[in-house]
Amino acid sequence: MNKILSIKNLAKKFHTPEGEVEAIKNISLDIYKKEIIGVVGSSGCGKSTLLNILAGIENKTSGEIKENGHTFSYMLQNDALLPWLNVLDNACIGLDIKKIKTKENIDYVKKLLISFGLENFLTTYPNNLSGGMRQRVALVRTLATKPDIILLDEPLSALDYVTRLTIGDDIYEMLKATKVTTILISHDIAECVAMCDKVIVLSKRPATVKKEIEIKWQDKKIPSENRKNELFSYYYDLVWGDLDKNFT
Ligand SMILES: Nc1ncnc2c1ncn2[C@@H]1O[C@H](COP(=O)(O)OP(=O)(O)OP(=O)(O)O)[C@@H](O)[C@H]1O
Ligand SMILES: [Mg+2]
Repeated sequence: MNKILSIKNLAKKFHTPEGEVEAIKNISLDIYKKEIIGVVGSSGCGKSTLLNILAGIENKTSGEIKENGHTFSYMLQNDALLPWLNVLDNACIGLDIKKIKTKENIDYVKKLLISFGLENFLTTYPNNLSGGMRQRVALVRTLATKPDIILLDEPLSALDYVTRLTIGDDIYEMLKATKVTTILISHDIAECVAMCDKVIVLSKRPATVKKEIEIKWQDKKIPSENRKNELFSYYYDLVWGDLDKNFT
């Protein structure tokens, strides 16, 4: 398989007025092309810190990240759309910033929005969209620059349960269609098991890799169908068993 990203002994310490906070420690991971990787770990363990470092928003304290020229795009934990821009313009922000807003790239964004069921909303403003629609626009914005790897920090956590399930399916299909490699942080074990090729379980803070669990059943389908797979609860229990429940 084609390795796209290699992380070695990554560590991060924050220096605060109250002292040092060790957020992540000794994280080593290899990520392969087209994989959807789920990252779970207890609240505050260091998940966003890991993604922020990969995205270049935060500096690492030590360790190595080898991305071999592959490009990243990042969807923040509380990703807000700009209220003064319509759906299409919001989705094109990355193209604007990179100064690659060509007709061809705009057409690509339109195509993604249309395949996400937003064909009638291209000129709508975010305040008039449902939460699920907003998340779809945010995802298209993340995919617009055709990155090799996308980093998604709890993309569905603000949504109600039923919307989560439908959007989960839509997102999965979009990720597979664009063949993008994905690192997805989620609190929701079921969501990770249903959507991902591999689930990485982080320990409580400082986050270390506790377990890498490959989800390997044949005949993978969309997440809502995968939840009915006979091996679903087996993998759910495996991840749950490894998760630190003690937040101290
Ligand atoms: N900029 C910062 N300065 C100081 N401490 C920070 C900073 N960012 C994060 N931390 C601390 O690092 C630890 C890990 O935070 P992080 O946001 O990565 O956790 P998380 O796993 O994403 O949590 P959640 O599940 O709540 O999203 C926490 O103790 C947090 O307070
Ligand atoms: Mg977080």
